[in-house]
Amino acid sequence: MSPPVRAIGTSSLTKVERTRSEHPVNQAFGEDRTATARAHSNIALIKYWGKRDAELNIPAVGSISLTLDGLSTDTRVTFRAGLQQDEFWLAGNRVDATRVTRFLDLVRGSAGLDSRAVVESTNNFPTAAGLASSASGFAALAVAASAAAGLSLDDRQLSILARRGSGSAARSLFGGLVELHAGTRSDGLDSFAEPVLPPEAWPLNVVVAITELGQKSVNSTVGMGESALTSPFYPAWVETGENDLAAMRLAIANRNFEQLGQLAEHSCLKLHALMMSTRPALVYWNAGTMAAMHSVLELRASGIPVYFTIDAGPQVKALCLPEHASGVADALGRVVGVHETKVSALGSGAHLLS
Ligand code: PMV
Repeated sequence: MSPPVRAIGTSSLTKVERTRSEHPVNQAFGEDRTATARAHSNIALIKYWGKRDAELNIPAVGSISLTLDGLSTDTRVTFRAGLQQDEFWLAGNRVDATRVTRFLDLVRGSAGLDSRAVVESTNNFPTAAGLASSASGFAALAVAASAAAGLSLDDRQLSILARRGSGSAARSLFGGLVELHAGTRSDGLDSFAEPVLPPEAWPLNVVVAITELGQKSVNSTVGMGESALTSPFYPAWVETGENDLAAMRLAIANRNFEQLGQLAEHSCLKLHALMMSTRPALVYWNAGTMAAMHSVLELRASGIPVYFTIDAGPQVKALCLPEHASGVADALGRVVGVHETKVSALGSGAHLLS
């Protein structure tokens, strides 16, 4: 098995050459090495689904997303000598740390560190319900863990690292509109995200309509694997991905909102057709999801430029311009099955808080 250092493409990672006692964190916190980071969630306009390498978590198709300022994760990582195992605390509750440990092993491998860590994370939105908590979660974890471990990674390296935790997390490293490249290299070093447009360049809003507060039943990785194996639509999904990306890049370059919205809705419906044609079928929508989609279509028929998109969960995200956001939120808020709405502007990239 190749060492984790190679696996995240860290041949060019620079380890901060300091002894433990010299590390500024150690000076402040004794033996602890700690850092806290914030990352915002993102919503894919052109969706990612399917992996060309499951082990390295390399996507089969590229994707383009919007980073949302309203949905964020704060994560503190503390490497502590003598700790027997990693601890993962989510919103104050200790939860299964398997995925976190697998991710921290990559960081420890690169940094030459063997301390276990306490990871404390809070989301300001429901976890694992299709609001991309894995995106903001692994982006915040990548930034906090690498800083706490004393690694100095550039944005591309951080994006590649975050991708190992969750494909969509690679995009949450950046603000505004972001593209994640599928790349072609077998080591995944050309599969990273980069900014397409900063948040201030095109003020767009997303109205999130929450139709379910509970956790979703099938996680993305499992679902993607099943789609690739069983859906007759999967080859077409992969084949048409590049066209969708090219059209979306053009819509963004031209600031053509209608084009952006049409393409986003198409990518969303194509994704869900793929999911529904998977065996066993992945049906993420509930009655509120459908009602909210129809409400968006009705608003559009009445002349308001608004488009929906939905990830691997039941929540509906309506894309609109800021002048229509409160009207769209009011309309979606009245839909039976919508528990609450949240208006979000474009957010900034992941960053350290301490
Ligand atoms: O990053 P993951 O493994 O949680 O997968 C994300 C999948 C979708 O949210 C459905 C699409 C996307 O591009 O974010």
